[in-house]
Amino acid sequence: MAPLVFFGQALKFYSFKLKAFIGIDRIVSLQEAPYGKTFADESEKAYVYINELSKIGLNPDEIFLSRESTEKEILSDKISLENYHVGLIVDHYERYLSRLKRKKSIMILACGPKPMLIALKNIALRFNIPMKVLLEKRMGCGIGVCMSCVCRTRKNNEGSRYSRVCVEGPLFDAKEIDWEKL
Ligand code: FES
Repeated sequence: MAPLVFFGQALKFYSFKLKAFIGIDRIVSLQEAPYGKTFADESEKAYVYINELSKIGLNPDEIFLSRESTEKEILSDKISLENYHVGLIVDHYERYLSRLKRKKSIMILACGPKPMLIALKNIALRFNIPMKVLLEKRMGCGIGVCMSCVCRTRKNNEGSRYSRVCVEGPLFDAKEIDWEKL
């Protein structure tokens, strides 16, 4: 989520219109985030940077949230309650797209768990929307040497090959990723 906030900041700077769709299981503010523990210890929880999205200029009606819980009041000052969905974020996004009259000039930029990315990629294909994916991979060296971060990609009509997320990525076009072997 953190790189997306910076990406959003850059897009805002260049006056792009931006909507943030976030699926979470628990809400934690940046101040509360347990930096004392490692993120691996807390991997089952998603940390939401809603405050940061507000700071970079997203209005409450530009932030969409999905979670399992129905207690939405705690967020009412940060997001519009109409943008709150109980369930999966991909369903939330698909419903948003279906209601949108003009679907031109949209691009999806996503990160998150593989099943969510696959579901989102299928929606993007159905609505013919370009999609970029930030692949989250466990990294070792971070400089292209250890190969711990490789994923299968394919360019043009070439066959599938390994790409290092830390060097060739982390941003990939959804069409470039070999989803079956990811
Ligand atoms: S993290 Fe070592 S090659 Fe990518």
